[in-house]
Amino acid sequence: MIDDRYRESYRIFEKAKTLIPGGVTRARIPFVPGLYPVYMQRASGSRVWDVDGNEYIDWMSGYGCILLGHAYPEVDAAAIKQIKKGFISLLSHPLQHALAERLVELVPCAEMVRFLKTGTDATSAAVRIARIYTARDRIIRFGYHGWADWAIGNSQGLGAGIPQCTGDLTHAFEYNNLDSLQELFTAYPGQIACVIMMPFEIEMPQPGFLEGVKQLCIENGTVLVFDEIRSGFRLAAGGAQEYFGVEPDLCALSKAMANGYAIAAVVGNREIMSATEQGLFSATFFVSSLEMAAALAVLKIIQRDGVIERLWHLGEKLQEGLRQVVSQSPLNVEVVGAPPMPFLRFAIEEEAVNARAKDAFYAEAVRLGVFFHPGHHWFVNFSHTEQDVERTVQVCQKALAVAEQAAQVYG
Ligand SMILES: Cc1ncc(COP(=O)(O)O)c(C=O)c1O
Repeated sequence: MIDDRYRESYRIFEKAKTLIPGGVTRARIPFVPGLYPVYMQRASGSRVWDVDGNEYIDWMSGYGCILLGHAYPEVDAAAIKQIKKGFISLLSHPLQHALAERLVELVPCAEMVRFLKTGTDATSAAVRIARIYTARDRIIRFGYHGWADWAIGNSQGLGAGIPQCTGDLTHAFEYNNLDSLQELFTAYPGQIACVIMMPFEIEMPQPGFLEGVKQLCIENGTVLVFDEIRSGFRLAAGGAQEYFGVEPDLCALSKAMANGYAIAAVVGNREIMSATEQGLFSATFFVSSLEMAAALAVLKIIQRDGVIERLWHLGEKLQEGLRQVVSQSPLNVEVVGAPPMPFLRFAIEEEAVNARAKDAFYAEAVRLGVFFHPGHHWFVNFSHTEQDVERTVQVCQKALAVAEQAAQVYG
C-alpha cells in the first residue's frame, strides 16, 4: 500500500529502480515501505520537504552531517566565496593549514592532521596509519566505521563481496565488555595494530570502560583510534574524547565538521602521524578548499554561538518530553542516547509485535510531519527550535497511540 501523500516519491522510485540498483543511493530507504517518503526535494534550517511537497521537522540532519541547520547562510556564504575563487587545483590550498590549526586547538588528541573527504576515508586512513606504525595487520573494532572492506567483514562473519582474507584480519569486540577485548589481545599477542571504536553509539560507556580500553592498548603496544565521525563537534566541540576525558592516539572526524560539505580528517599523536609519511593517503578531491572554507566557518560558529550547549539543551528537552509520553504508554519503549543524539527504542518482547508497533509509530510520526529514522539515533541541530521540540513531543504522543493500536489489534 502506498499512501497518497508519497505518490511522487514512489513514482520516481519505480523509475529509478531501472537505473540505480535498489532505486536509492543509500541502503534501507524507504524505512516503512509505502508509508515513508523516498525522495527529499529541499531543506532549510530544521526542515526538509519531500518531492510531494510534504514538510517535516528533520531530526536526521543528513545522518548527522548537518550541525547548524540546513543551508546555513554563514557557512554557505563562506563556501560560495571560495567557489568563486576556484577552489581546487593540483596543489594544496593554504586554508588547509588554518583548518589544521583549528582542529589541533579543538580536539584533545590532535597534534597533526590529514584531510580527506568521507568518514570511510578517515577511518580507513586511521587503520592504515596504525598498520604502518605498528607493522601489524590485525585490527579490533566496535561500531560502524563505513563501507570499506575492513570495516564490514570480520573474522566472525563477512559482508557480501568482502574477501575472506580481509575479514580474517578484523575482530569485533563487545561494547562495555573489557573481557571481550582482553580475550582478543590474548588470542593474538603482539598482532593487533589498532583498536578502532565509536566511543559510544547509544549506550554511554560504563565508568572506567574507555580508560580500560586505553590501558589495554598501552599494555599491548596497540594504537587506540576513536571513530568520532558522529560524536565529533556534537557531543562537545572536541568530541567524545573531550566529554569523557579519555584521549585516543588517533581520531577520525567528518560529518558535522563542515555542515554538510564533504570533508573528513584523521587527527592524532605527532609521533604516530609523522611516522607514516611514506603511506599513500591521496585522492583527487582531498585538496579541495571549498569544504575547508565551510569547515572553518562551522568551527568559528561552534565556538562563538554556544552551539554545543544549545544542542544539549534541546536534546534534553526532547528526551524529557518523550520520557513523559512514554511513561503513559503500556508499550515497552525507552528514551535512550546522549541528548544531542537521542533515540526512542522499541523493546517489546515479542519481535513481530515490536516490529509492527515500531513501523506504526514511525509511519504516523512522518505522516504528521516529523522525520525520524526508525533504526538509527537522531541528530539535534542548531536550527531546531523549542517549538520544534514541543511539536515533536505532541506528534510522538499521537504516534504512540497508533503504535499501541497496532500492537493490540494484531497482537
Ligand atoms: C561512526 C561512523 N563512522 C564512519 C562512518 C562512515 O562515514 P561515511 O558514511 O561518510 O563514509 C559513519 C557513517 O555513518 C559513522 O557513523
